[in-house]
Amino acid sequence: MSARRPLISGNWKMHLNHFEALKLTQELSYQITGDDIEHVDVSLHPPFTDLRTVQTVIDSDKLPFFLGAQHCHFEDKGAFTGEIAPAMLAKLNVTYVIAGHSERREIFGETDEMVNAKAKAILAAGMTPIVCVGETLAERDGGEAEAKVGSQVQAALTGLSAEQVGGLVIAYEPIWAIGTGRTASAEDAQAMCHHVRAGVSGIYGADAAASVRVQYGGSVKPANANELLTQPDIDGALVGGAALSADDFTRIVQFRL
Ligand code: PGA
Repeated sequence: MSARRPLISGNWKMHLNHFEALKLTQELSYQITGDDIEHVDVSLHPPFTDLRTVQTVIDSDKLPFFLGAQHCHFEDKGAFTGEIAPAMLAKLNVTYVIAGHSERREIFGETDEMVNAKAKAILAAGMTPIVCVGETLAERDGGEAEAKVGSQVQAALTGLSAEQVGGLVIAYEPIWAIGTGRTASAEDAQAMCHHVRAGVSGIYGADAAASVRVQYGGSVKPANANELLTQPDIDGALVGGAALSADDFTRIVQFRL
């Protein structure tokens, strides 16, 4: 068993208004037990407009969940209409911020350089980035998955110290498995998460590689969570669709090492 604490993250994407987010957070608090939290960390990533509401219920009811965000800008402030600065999230007690989700890369044109700048800005604001990497189906079929993911990891972490990298979360999310109902086999997911860790080791050394947490994401469900999450190099999951159901997300959190 690895010494790394698994992190199960619920990415609510552009779903749930703040009332609905409050309800889901409360439902999760009734179902996820103290025993579960002894084994795993849990982060919830609502849309920006829900953050203050979810923060308030987590803080006032002392819920054992970390607050997360789905995105931020890399600048501190300025004329960036529609964007949110890392310090604004830190002020809301956000702990984890997703950086470079494939939907941000593909739909909103985020580049490796932007993801790198964001990872640095998130760390500078005292939070932890969840850096997303993953290959398309064409890249996988073309035998390029490892090269693509390796280069994304390298680009996203450029300029960080080994200590900073050791504290990061990297989410391996094959793009063809996100929201499609298709999941990487446990063997493939393990192999790619191992490849991510080996890439970290090659650049930042064995200590950083041993402590960086590598999540798998892409159609994680109660039915496949145990098989995926018990792989030696998989340290948790970034969950989209199944995170919108309190029952399903709880069952994923309740996988056991
Ligand atoms: P999914 O989304 O679980 O719905 O595939 C995962 C993600 O995009 O993080």
